Amino acid sequence: MAERIASSNSVNYTYRAPAVTRSTSLLLPRSSSLSPKCHLSSRSVHLSASRSFVSPLSNRSLTGACKLSQQRRATGSTTVICAASDPVQLKGAKEDIKELLKSTYCHPILVRLGWHDAGTYDKNIEEWPQRGGANGSLRFEAELKHGANAGLINALKLIQPIKDKYPGVTYADLFQLASATAIEEAGGPKIPMKYGRVDVTGPEQCPPEGKLPDAGPPSPAQHLRDVFYRMGLDDKDIVALSGAHTLGRSRPERSGWGKPETKYTKDGPGAPGGQSWTAQWLKFDNSYFRDIKEKRDEDLLVLPTDAALFDDPSFKVYAEKYAENQEAFFKDYAEAHAKLSNLGALFDPPEGISIDDEAKAPTPEPFVAAKYSSGEKDLSNTMKQKLRAEYEAIGGSPNKPLKSNYFLNIIIVIAGLAILTSLLGS
Ligand code: HEM
Repeated sequence: MAERIASSNSVNYTYRAPAVTRSTSLLLPRSSSLSPKCHLSSRSVHLSASRSFVSPLSNRSLTGACKLSQQRRATGSTTVICAASDPVQLKGAKEDIKELLKSTYCHPILVRLGWHDAGTYDKNIEEWPQRGGANGSLRFEAELKHGANAGLINALKLIQPIKDKYPGVTYADLFQLASATAIEEAGGPKIPMKYGRVDVTGPEQCPPEGKLPDAGPPSPAQHLRDVFYRMGLDDKDIVALSGAHTLGRSRPERSGWGKPETKYTKDGPGAPGGQSWTAQWLKFDNSYFRDIKEKRDEDLLVLPTDAALFDDPSFKVYAEKYAENQEAFFKDYAEAHAKLSNLGALFDPPEGISIDDEAKAPTPEPFVAAKYSSGEKDLSNTMKQKLRAEYEAIGGSPNKPLKSNYFLNIIIVIAGLAILTSLLGS
């Protein structure tokens, strides 16, 4: 399975040049003809291919979007902007993930998939991909068989058809897109995501085993700090991110933790069994914090690392706050999740890609009436004075609207006079 996934690794390049030069055609994939996915215009070239590229410049196989970008920049012949993922395909993939969630209730495992790809990051290592993080390495069998990743092959199986349908989206982006979409679709906050993560290309680029946290270490709070500080995250992030356990279940046959089934999990939805942290384990809310605090329900799971959030004085401040205030939890969770999803990632373009239409929509210009006027000259000063005098004669001013009862008063006076005249006349 993993082999198949690894070999279907694909590359999507979007690059723009002031003019299409002779070297553009040399960059087509080996044995490739222009497919419907490849659009050529005088200003841009968009290539999608599922083969590695042979660079005419280096005569080496190029499999990473950034490599191509760097090679092309190095020539100095054209300006190249290269994107790891195609924004249109990212949006399509997001819609398909929503459908997948509706039919399989796989929200929790997709969140775990994204977290385990990103959570291997080591801030003390500068080089990519040696530093680990959100780089799609979790698709390789070498990493999937790490003890901490038990069961995640199922997440990959669910998501692979979407990857096949959208080859212009990297695995690294797809994992993070799936996780953020799952949180949002489960009722959680909107995560301020960006995309454009470059994929690692081979299992030799996977991180070593042992980067993710253990659930039952000798000193849980210290262990959490060791692991999350290594990622560059802080106490607030640790507590907020642990709140993702509001979703999902632990299965003894995977992680060794949890009961085989409980009253909350015996009927699914999805594959039945396991022990959840919360009663409604497909709903993202702050019940994880409330339930750990109460520790009342034997059917709900509390790992030693979960309990540490209320035992450690610094963690406790946040855990108590989130148990009380769901809005505060959502805000901190969204920030921490976005941070987590970017860890170690190499973005191409470096600033990332937004697929958030609202975020990208230009702010409407304030309406300036003068902009739409015919450009006629302003009124002369004499005319302005005349108008002012006329307004003032009836108790108004050009700058102030007339008081609403002014005309009413005139009408009353006229009516009064008319009645008086008719009385006198008769
Ligand atoms: C703080 C340290 C953490 C530890 C020790 C830990 C440990 C675990 C364990 C043991 C499981 C059960 C896996 C299984 O048996 O299938 C699990 C599941 C899960 N974890 Fe964590 N985790 C941690 C942090 C996180 C973070 C940061 C996230 C996300 C941001 C997360 C999201 C999840 C989810 C959603 C599940 C449920 C998966 C499912 O139902 O298939 N965890 N975690």
